[in-house]
Amino acid sequence: MTSTITICDTCKRDDWQAGTNVQTDGERLAEMVEAAAAGNPHVTTRRHSCLMGCARGCNVAIQGAGKLAYTLGEFVPSDEAAQAVVDYAALHAQSETGTVPYKQWPQPIKGHFVTRHPPLPDAS
Ligand code: FES
Repeated sequence: MTSTITICDTCKRDDWQAGTNVQTDGERLAEMVEAAAAGNPHVTTRRHSCLMGCARGCNVAIQGAGKLAYTLGEFVPSDEAAQAVVDYAALHAQSETGTVPYKQWPQPIKGHFVTRHPPLPDAS
């Protein structure tokens, strides 16, 4: 079973400049996550415009059918962050419940968790 990473493609961090930045910070992170996820059999990616965590950009969500779902925020677009999100999502996919033991968390995602949501009763 795969887990899905949803990347907000409209996030703009506080230092984003409309005059000089061609892409939003979310678009930049989305490209990096998509590149890191390419060929990974455990994850899929998609983009969504605004996950309603705008003050905490950049934001991503990690979901899998019948599993705990998570939102993570305050990422700076970087290959390191993108790889950590993909690595965590792959562990999420391989977990029966969506719970990944803390000792397995990639270091760059620590401190970025914002919310978690239990699966719907009829989805498990
Ligand atoms: S613009 Fe990314 S959460 Fe709203």
